Amino acid sequence: MTMAKIRLDKFICDCTSYTRSQAKKLIRGKKARVSGSIITDESFKVDEDCADVVLNGEIISPEKYIYIMLNKPAGVVSATADAQHKTVLDLLDGEYANRGLFPVGRLDIDTEGLLILTNNGDFAHNTLSPKKHVEKTYIAKVGGYTYTKESKERFESGIELADGYKCLPAATELISQTDGVCEIKITINEGKFHQIKKMFAAEGGKVEYLKRISFGEIKLDKSLKSGEYRLFDAEELKYAAKKAKGDQYFGFM
Ligand code: URA
Repeated sequence: MTMAKIRLDKFICDCTSYTRSQAKKLIRGKKARVSGSIITDESFKVDEDCADVVLNGEIISPEKYIYIMLNKPAGVVSATADAQHKTVLDLLDGEYANRGLFPVGRLDIDTEGLLILTNNGDFAHNTLSPKKHVEKTYIAKVGGYTYTKESKERFESGIELADGYKCLPAATELISQTDGVCEIKITINEGKFHQIKKMFAAEGGKVEYLKRISFGEIKLDKSLKSGEYRLFDAEELKYAAKKAKGDQYFGFM
């Protein structure tokens, strides 16, 4: 998909409350940077969702796309509507209602941690597609399982699930092992239904607690308590724009 390009003065109008003539004045007054360079030509073309425009020292972006990082609590479902349970959208303030937001992929109802909510279908498509191999890292507490060199190697070569599916290689790291419960950091490149639970089940264990701590380059902000959320920061927005374009992100081009 090719992204439409628009003039820098129009981009500024779309992102702020400045009028077109105020935007032009700001550009001529060297107040606008694109990908780090001062631009003084108001007709300079930028992608309509460019994430690299700084005005008066602050990054600006079109309202069109929203990206929210949520620290999902257990007990809510990763859906936009549900007859029985509270959904992740119910955790957001009213200002985010009717903005077309949806969760990027699903965490089970009892899984906690990083869930991205957006209204950018391209971002979701390009990060969830199995072909894109976006890494997801989780902390799992697993009962009835002992972490051994052999088990680690099986994760590395691809665990075979009960239904015969052979998983892509996964990296594991032991955090602690006490009284029959292992705490493990695990990174996977795919996102099949109940994948981590099924992987440990294939090794004879039962996942008792699961929390996602990263999704691609997006790391769960440690300051977010369970159920809290925030908008993406400037770096995270750049990553989102890059992914939305299928990794073909060249800032101002
Ligand atoms: N794997 C699972 O088993 N559950 C999740 O919620 C995410 C990954």
